Amino acid sequence: MTVAICPGSFDPVTRGHLDIISRAAFMFDRVIVAVLHNSKKNPAFTVEERMAMISKVTEDMPNVEVATFDGLLADFARIKGATVLVKGLRAVSDFEYEFQMALANRKLNPDLETVFITTKAENMYLASSLVKEIARNGGTIDDFVPAVLRKEIQNRLCKGERK
Ligand code: PNS
Repeated sequence: MTVAICPGSFDPVTRGHLDIISRAAFMFDRVIVAVLHNSKKNPAFTVEERMAMISKVTEDMPNVEVATFDGLLADFARIKGATVLVKGLRAVSDFEYEFQMALANRKLNPDLETVFITTKAENMYLASSLVKEIARNGGTIDDFVPAVLRKEIQNRLCKGERK
């Protein structure tokens, strides 16, 4: 049984993330979506909110579960018995950083293989940061986030950040 991890901040989860998660779920026996707890990025959504949003949009994927982690991803993978790390690649600009991460993670955990899934063309420009900026400025995020989450994300970001 192959356990794969889809890690990220997911602040908030986008259609691009969901596409990568669903394709990973098709490829691997078990997929753990791992939400980074202690992000330096000062997240707009709490880790619990981010996990709940991911659970909602993956409820039709029986081999997907949601977890949170702190510290090194390579250690989390070891604890979970995961041998694959799934990353989405949007553009060449993602490559350098992701390549560095993949090499470092292999050093830290030689049993962990990083697998890149290329994004769908329509999601190439998508990023959580873009979603937040558009929503905060009153723009429509319909094409960027799963439909079932649109109101929740828009309401929160239009009303201002959590304290
Ligand atoms: O969605 P993001 O913010 O691009 O995800 C980045 C993430 C969570 C995958 C990355 O920051 C990460 O793996 N953080 C955990 C700490 C770690 O293991 N860093 C790599 C050391 S080489």
